[in-house]
Amino acid sequence: MPEVVHKSWSPISWKEKPVKQLPDYPDQKELEQCYEMLKDLPPLVTSWEIDALKNKLADISDGNGFLLQGGDCAESFDATKAPKIVNMVKVLLQMSFILIHEMGIPVLRVGRIAGQYAKPRSNDFEMVDGEEIHNYRGDLINGFESESGIRIPDPQRLIEGYHKAGLTLNFLRALSEEGFADLHHPEQWELDFMRNNEYYAEYEEMVSSITKAVKFVEAIAPDTFTTLQKVDFYTSHEALNLYYDSAQTRPVPRKPGHYNLSAHMVWLGNRTRELDGAHVEYFKGINNPVGIKIGPPFEIDETLKLIETLNPTHEKGKIVLITRFGKDLIEEQLPGLIQAVRREGFPVVWSSDPMHGNTFSTGGGIKTRNFDDIIREVRSAFAIHRSEGSYLGGVHLELTGDNVTECVGGAKGLEENELNRNYETFCDPRLNYEQSLEMAFLVAREWKNSRG
Ligand code: PEP
Ligand code: CO
Repeated sequence: MPEVVHKSWSPISWKEKPVKQLPDYPDQKELEQCYEMLKDLPPLVTSWEIDALKNKLADISDGNGFLLQGGDCAESFDATKAPKIVNMVKVLLQMSFILIHEMGIPVLRVGRIAGQYAKPRSNDFEMVDGEEIHNYRGDLINGFESESGIRIPDPQRLIEGYHKAGLTLNFLRALSEEGFADLHHPEQWELDFMRNNEYYAEYEEMVSSITKAVKFVEAIAPDTFTTLQKVDFYTSHEALNLYYDSAQTRPVPRKPGHYNLSAHMVWLGNRTRELDGAHVEYFKGINNPVGIKIGPPFEIDETLKLIETLNPTHEKGKIVLITRFGKDLIEEQLPGLIQAVRREGFPVVWSSDPMHGNTFSTGGGIKTRNFDDIIREVRSAFAIHRSEGSYLGGVHLELTGDNVTECVGGAKGLEENELNRNYETFCDPRLNYEQSLEMAFLVAREWKNSRG
């Protein structure tokens, strides 16, 4: 790694601060070589796209629009495959159609995709067959297989992560440009599972209304429709592995400051947001919009200082506050935070992550979440924001377009004993295709209720 030469901010000034959740790479020389290589590779996204996203987030902070952020808890390198990416785009797109139709406002799609490869862990090591090996920290750091050699932090993975993100993004961009027209045809959606849902009639009516609207536009203005097919899709990940993110953080011509050009938006995790820590130091200097995860344990004063530190000019669209309290704590903890943020006059986008506070293990030791708990936190979030006179402008979900069995509940009523059928996640349990569509529908319903 290059030496830090001055005290002011630079993409590597974080190295002077205490750092959490970053692996000790055994081979520092190889790390340095990989870092230098990554620094020279072309950017994955542009500063114009990043600025455009920030402007759209600014609209949401004014109550005009809604943020749908979602994707895998941890992407894996091996899953960089067409069907997985297509299914992810499909589910996010269909969810966004449901939201747009029901809410009648713009919906911003931001994937946890093309770079969501690093995970925070509670312990550095775990015991496997009497041997202590490194914990899995995401494909950007080490391999998932529980073998000690594979778990050693490997800097070559920084380069592989960049390539996998680039391939994912390339396909994503192609899909959003053209060729995904059939997704505009909700009659092809797989909705049978909703028959068991108490809202099925409402849901069917919505789908038929979307279908009619699409047919109408296609009939009267086929050309307009073609342009509508170009959907905006942004990328995001937790900027946890600061080697990966800082190597791709650069100045751009004719604009002040630095941009993290590996994703449009990055977020600061709940475990790495200490004011004097390395991650906050890094986040201070980038122009991208940034998410801040807030959940237990947190203190209101610290949180206010953090927002001020990351956005001293109070720029709109810069900060997305992603709350993740859990269904039991949200009532107690969210109102005070909303009041404090309002008192300071910070222009934030409020988003609810109903996933991370609602994880539990089954009797058989499988990590899962209950659909009912997730929707309960969403409901509470809308209700609390409403009663505080504030606007909940987004949700942050862990989901997949595949038919996995990781979260229990939902219209199909997935049971704990069915989790083993198709449990694929490398980290946290995700909503499957059906649960995701149902969630979009219920989120839209809550949004409408909260508007009275
Ligand atoms: C995550 O989003 O996968 C995550 C680890 O969240 P948090 O930082 O909120 O725990
Ligand atoms: Co997660």
